[in-house]
Amino acid sequence: MTVEPISPTQNPLPRATVGETLQALRDIQLPMVAKGPIIRRPKLVAASERFDLDGRGVRRAQTLADKYGRGPLMLNIPGRPMALILHPEDVHRVLDDSPEPFATAETLKRHALKHLEPKVALISHGTERTQRRRLNEVTLEHGSPIHQMADAFMPVVEQEAKVLLDQVGADGGILEYKPFLDAWFRIVRRVVLGDSARENTELTALTEKLRADGNWAFLKPVDRKGRAALLDQMQAALDRAEPGSLAAFMSQRPQGSEAEPAQQIPQWLFAFDPAGMATFRALALLASHPARLEAVRHQITEEASEATPLLGRLRATVLESLRLWPTTPMILRETTTDVEFSHGVMPAGTSVLVFAPFFHRDDRQLDFAHHFAPELWEHPRTREDWPLVPFSAGPGLCPGRHLVLLLTSKFMAEILNQAEIELESHTLDPQGLPSLLNNFGLRFRLS
Ligand code: HEM
Repeated sequence: MTVEPISPTQNPLPRATVGETLQALRDIQLPMVAKGPIIRRPKLVAASERFDLDGRGVRRAQTLADKYGRGPLMLNIPGRPMALILHPEDVHRVLDDSPEPFATAETLKRHALKHLEPKVALISHGTERTQRRRLNEVTLEHGSPIHQMADAFMPVVEQEAKVLLDQVGADGGILEYKPFLDAWFRIVRRVVLGDSARENTELTALTEKLRADGNWAFLKPVDRKGRAALLDQMQAALDRAEPGSLAAFMSQRPQGSEAEPAQQIPQWLFAFDPAGMATFRALALLASHPARLEAVRHQITEEASEATPLLGRLRATVLESLRLWPTTPMILRETTTDVEFSHGVMPAGTSVLVFAPFFHRDDRQLDFAHHFAPELWEHPRTREDWPLVPFSAGPGLCPGRHLVLLLTSKFMAEILNQAEIELESHTLDPQGLPSLLNNFGLRFRLS
């Protein structure tokens, strides 16, 4: 006897009312779209900080969770099934069961990313995804805290940090976001593409332009000429294979026929931008927590003789910066079939929303919600733990996370090692950190 699967119409998931759906879209979705999902709009980030819009989003999700319990909660949007994850166990499930039945290639994400990288792993499916994801994993060394090319990367970070600090000295000791990001992107271009790309700010500008188009998803036509120019430059870097670059490393990795190496690199250039934001915010956390800063400095000194220091305390600080202010606040999946949950069935083709700030800052459940708690990252987090997912989790876990932590921790160490740091623009209350910290508005005094 065959058992017919239960359909979403026989056993539907709880459904938000029209009013609740509008409130969820206003408080959770709209601020994210307005700030820019693919590249941030500084004015709207400043407004979100000022009006605590991110905090409102978390409170809205809490209200819905109080009413609907476990969920997932179907939003009431005609013609577009969308579900909000409300329970920590379901976060683990959705991320662990990617890409089947929870595909990473979600519709809105595909429309946003096609502007620069239509064949990137994240919006691919099936064999294509398998090969592209694999190439990313082997090139970025998914499982290694220290990339085997770290010896080549560390001097690049040291040199660019020195250039930055000289410039800060010339600017009267003031460190603002723009020069910080310029220095960071010089590191990124050299590490990813090779030293010859150091001054190629036009490439960064082109990437930014295409990402700004991506913010509009399907509402803006693809700039095919711009995209072709970007992908040509990626291919040229692979062909040049400059020693010491990730492009060279990638060109020597095994690749399947569908791997599309040149289309994977724009994602790296793009994703190093939020890494810069997280690092700048991490500096603000340290400047506001003197005991922790001292512990960090102690570790920098202890590991000073190592060619590639691990700098676990700085890595934990960046992870905390990302927990408190996630740079990928919405992790999106799309169901490839009907999926049964304990309280009902989610239809195929549903966009599944994992709103990370709700799980990172849920003060009904977490006593550390609004505190700087680097000890959370002392041990690898598992499925048994509460989901803190700044780099996602499961088979879609960010394959660049170790590389990000390697480079950001070293960059911070170089800055902190040379200077005393004071946060001038903001006063952060360690007892209640804000729902958003506007990286564009942070200003430090280095002495
Ligand atoms: C602070 C910096 C970063 C954060 C917070 C971050 C976070 C994430 C998250 C949350 C995802 C999953 C997205 C989704 O499922 O929709 C992701 C995917 C990805 N990230 Fe990162 N990322 C960062 C930097 C980087 C960097 C620098 C690289 C490359 C050098 C990178 C490479 C990737 C790739 C290739 C994927 C797609 C993985 C897949 O298709 O399964 N990321 N990242």
